[in-house]
Amino acid sequence: MRSTACSILLLCAVTQGVFAQTTDKAKADSLKKLGNNDREASMRQLNIKSIRRAPDSILKKNVDKDGLYGPIPDALTLTNGKKVTTAAMWWKQRRPELVEYFDREIYGRVPANTPKVTWKVANTEQTTHGGVPVIVKTMVGHVDNSSYPSINVDIQMILTIPANAKKPVPVMMELTFPEDYKQLDQTPGAEPSWQLQVLNKGWAYCMFLPPSLQADNAAGLTQGIIGLMNKGQYRKPDDWGGCRAWAWGASRALDYFETDKMLDAKRVGLEGHSRYGKTALVAAAYDPRFAVVYSSSSGEGGAKLHRHNLGEQVENLASGPYYWFAGNFLKYAGPLHTTDLPVDSHELIDLIAPRPVFIGGGANGDDWADPKGMFMAEVAAGPVYKLLGKKDLGTTQYPAIDEAVVGGDLGFRLHHGGHTPALNWATFIEFASKYWK
Ligand code: GCU
Repeated sequence: MRSTACSILLLCAVTQGVFAQTTDKAKADSLKKLGNNDREASMRQLNIKSIRRAPDSILKKNVDKDGLYGPIPDALTLTNGKKVTTAAMWWKQRRPELVEYFDREIYGRVPANTPKVTWKVANTEQTTHGGVPVIVKTMVGHVDNSSYPSINVDIQMILTIPANAKKPVPVMMELTFPEDYKQLDQTPGAEPSWQLQVLNKGWAYCMFLPPSLQADNAAGLTQGIIGLMNKGQYRKPDDWGGCRAWAWGASRALDYFETDKMLDAKRVGLEGHSRYGKTALVAAAYDPRFAVVYSSSSGEGGAKLHRHNLGEQVENLASGPYYWFAGNFLKYAGPLHTTDLPVDSHELIDLIAPRPVFIGGGANGDDWADPKGMFMAEVAAGPVYKLLGKKDLGTTQYPAIDEAVVGGDLGFRLHHGGHTPALNWATFIEFASKYWK
């Protein structure tokens, strides 16, 4: 009897081993068939032979009057040509059209059955920051990986809450670069760090680490949350890219805020710079719970008009960090052109409407992010804000350096520095304060 049981067990162990080997081999084979990496796999699926070089003149300032390759799409005209004249038409018809374009062609789709995230406080510390008593919670959000246990995803963030608050406080959340994570002083010198500025308002701040859920490179696309959902396989052309995955993670952080009695989850702001400036816009576009946004130097793939011929171009993203986007985005630097995009970035801003958005850039050394192109997108985003009863930028005139354009529900400022969010934080906090009295 015993020996039969033993042999059955042995047989099971052997077949399982063989099975594991075959699935590994099948996986390797199917990956190989598509190419040696995600880019090759995407290009093969899309039948793209090569990526076009970006035009050479993109950092020259003496462009023609508006510097556009072609007219930008009208946010208030349906694909069938009909004009959008009411808020209801915007919500029921035009906005869903735009969401579909951004999903399919630019940022990729979030899979339908994304797993549950369970947040745990890994560590709590009572301390002071800049003289303010605070509670610092180091948080880990474990993503349920029972569907594919060989990929583990633990989202990381640090939450710092004023200890003496009498009622739930607003949260300013930053999508933080790894090199800045756990650092308090990003701006040694004149200005206090953004974290201290936030604490001085009586608000909490959160530093959220995007690469903890999705690596910031193409090789990582078969791992992290994207890899987990694809069970280690390459992406399909309309699958989500890095920005959309990071944005999804930011929403999971907001889920946690809703459960923390010290926080007011109705007043959550989101800031990101550069690739995370793109991500902040995407996160707020897809999650209406983000109450106010600061997108800093987000450039191409963020607030900058794709069709503006300064700074980074679609072709640059396609030949560089294309993995922040859906595979389909590569098409626009292959067989198609920027002017074939069914949308432009003003419509990404419009997906956040009627919520307030502040956009910033630098006047000296931030040309790659094309502050002018970001400003133009914000101007073009205005009509939707107005249709929804809000105020646009209030000007079409590109402002002087350090002049804050914050009178409306769309805000803009070109600070005197380079590629940094630091020099616009004070203005952004002033902008957000209009809403969080
Ligand atoms: C590169 C990239 C930009 C991006 C930036 C960043 O410069 O071309 O699109 O915004 O990196 O995130 O630092």
